[in-house]
Amino acid sequence: MRIDYTNVMAEVIGERDGILREELLSFRHFVAEVHQIIQKEKNRKFYFCKLPYQDTSQVKETANWIRENFENFAVIGIGGSSLGAKMLFNSLTEFNHNKKNRPRFYLFENVDPERFRATLEEIDVEKTCFNVITKSGSTVETIANFSIIMQMLKEKLGDRYRENLVFTTDPEKGFLRKFGQEEGIKMLDIPPQIGGRFSVLSPVGLLPASVIGIDIDQLLSGAKKMDLICSIEEHVEHNPAYLIALAHYITNMRRGKTISVMMPYTEKLSSFVDWYRQLWAESLGKDGLGQTPVKAIGTVDQHSQLQLYREGIRDKIITFIQVENFPVDFRIPEELPDEISYLSGHTLGEILNKELLGTKAALIKSKVPNITITLDRIDPYNMGMLIYMYELATGFSGYLYKINPFDQPAVEEGKKFTYALLGRKGFEEKLQEFKELYREKYRIEIQ
Ligand code: PA5
Repeated sequence: MRIDYTNVMAEVIGERDGILREELLSFRHFVAEVHQIIQKEKNRKFYFCKLPYQDTSQVKETANWIRENFENFAVIGIGGSSLGAKMLFNSLTEFNHNKKNRPRFYLFENVDPERFRATLEEIDVEKTCFNVITKSGSTVETIANFSIIMQMLKEKLGDRYRENLVFTTDPEKGFLRKFGQEEGIKMLDIPPQIGGRFSVLSPVGLLPASVIGIDIDQLLSGAKKMDLICSIEEHVEHNPAYLIALAHYITNMRRGKTISVMMPYTEKLSSFVDWYRQLWAESLGKDGLGQTPVKAIGTVDQHSQLQLYREGIRDKIITFIQVENFPVDFRIPEELPDEISYLSGHTLGEILNKELLGTKAALIKSKVPNITITLDRIDPYNMGMLIYMYELATGFSGYLYKINPFDQPAVEEGKKFTYALLGRKGFEEKLQEFKELYREKYRIEIQ
């Protein structure tokens, strides 16, 4: 992996938009202090740092059992309990994995009834293992989807319905743990110290990954490698996680870059960006601070967003992710009409990466700060490194912004209003608060 931050430096794009090297280095005492704190917090708040070293035997055993007994595997979960598995599936299996391989992978994430029907139409519930993932054990979407699926399983399988379920939840707390114990359902633990969006390298992401054939040992080895680098190196110019955090923080707080665009030049990393968006937004968007994460995909969004990135409001820092080697490539024929013969002999992968270079040059000209992360290939090892790096960068950023990156009080508030609206016991006062808050006073109605 390479991280090229040349184009965020003032030397290249000027002091209005770029960072001075002295400025970066001026954080060294702060970085050294936080580095020590993080090492000490690895058993508590920074527990995700311990995940690369966990014992995965139970995950592997469960995954093997699922692979041997089911045609389909479906995750029921949302937010931190779905985005990690979705990211691993989309980045580390072939685009048409479900057409060629078993078990097929599905996701019940939203409570959109049409999506629910469409997914159901693709599977035979009797031949599907449903992995219900929820840390709290009570998230509305997850429990609602699960309840419908459970009813279907009971209708088809009677008492044997339990065999089609695996729960991944808190080891002690929450409805799902209690229900699983009463019903005798297979369960895996989410370490209590870990919040949803930092849990992909726990059984939350590892079980789905292992079921669909991803090498989880390699995934964790990559994360270990990043942990080692980041534990040894406290100097910001050698620690990739701290560098990413500081480059974003300085450009945000001192250069007005309130938006962080992540733009991989490979569609395989599209869900990685969705995972990053949650991590960055939910962890750092607090106390009137934070940076809005935005997704773009190269080259598609060159033809949609680039105009704005170059000449619109100067509020963005862009992270490109480049992949050097694709497992497959296609060469453009030699014999082409004169006007398009410049394409002869080039491959699609080569064009993708040349377009990235062209885009970067255009952005440098417009003095838009940009970082490029280059992977030699997308594989479990590199994904492990990337995931760990962004988790640590996010945790470290909490200290820069002086906020707690591990809670999400504003999300909880919305959840409470939903419980109240759905008539959950104990939320009567919340319903009253809702009635006082919510109005539809100004509106246009079109018949
Ligand atoms: O990161 C988080 O903590 C949240 O996004 C949760 O993952 C999300 O709300 C789902 O919660 P749970 O896992 O409790 O169902």
